[in-house]
Amino acid sequence: MGRRATAALAAVLAVIAGVSAFVPSATRLPQALIFDCDGVLADTERDGHRPAFNEAFKAKGIDCVWDVDLYGKLLEVGGGKERMTAHWDKVGWPLGITEKADKQALVQELHLLKTDLFNEAIVAGKIPLRPGVLRLVDEAIEQEVPLAVCSTSNERAVSNLVLTLMGRERYERFRIFAGDVVRAKKPQPDIYNLAAEALRLSPERVIVVEDSGIGLRAAKGAGMPCLVTKSSYTGGENFSLADEVVESLDDGDVDLQVLGNIVMTSLSKSQAAGA
Ligand SMILES: *[C@@H]1O[C@H](CO)[C@@H](O)[C@H](O)[C@H]1NC(C)=O
Repeated sequence: MGRRATAALAAVLAVIAGVSAFVPSATRLPQALIFDCDGVLADTERDGHRPAFNEAFKAKGIDCVWDVDLYGKLLEVGGGKERMTAHWDKVGWPLGITEKADKQALVQELHLLKTDLFNEAIVAGKIPLRPGVLRLVDEAIEQEVPLAVCSTSNERAVSNLVLTLMGRERYERFRIFAGDVVRAKKPQPDIYNLAAEALRLSPERVIVVEDSGIGLRAAKGAGMPCLVTKSSYTGGENFSLADEVVESLDDGDVDLQVLGNIVMTSLSKSQAAGA
């Protein structure tokens, strides 16, 4: 290449570099918008699982109602069967049951019924979306920002929830990573690592929306900026790792520009830390 051509090329490159340095911040949107499902898209524990337990109790003639406050305490026990067992061990078993085998059989039966009732509630659209979710999803579709859901809950429940509550057109814009596609559940970052690989994303340029400390740790473990939208039963958790914490996506009008700014701030922080 001649000297003049080299100089011309250098000039062109300088112009390109100059232009890219002055791209208005309005165009710096996240590379992808990734939602957790339970507690983020919908308050599924409060509005889905809890009523399904209550319906199952009623169907079996068991005089037991878990209200919103009580259920919040019961959630300290992970797993539905374990939750019922711990509760009745404490307050006394229903239906006059005393034998261990009968207790196990009852809990097993109730859990199957409750799972069916939960899935029916999702398909029937009885569990509402949280405020701001649909607005943000529509904005992402309009701006062509890829959408994903990363959840270690049951895949069918997650897919049904997105399909029923958002409609088929939006559903088809989502990539859903859920259930047993990874071995290690959150707080391990595996599900987010999988999404980054499958969608060829730079983890530090996407934004994750989570509602719990466990989910937050998973996202940060994958190197992704994370906004926490508090849900009914997670509000008191430790979110010090979060890039931003809001009460809901309508709190402070979280839009793609706000999310893009969170990503840029996180990037410049990590660049400063790395320098
Ligand atoms: C919250 O989490 C951070 C980071 O994981 C930790 O350093 C801090 O000690 C925790 N704070 C409380 C009050 O547990």
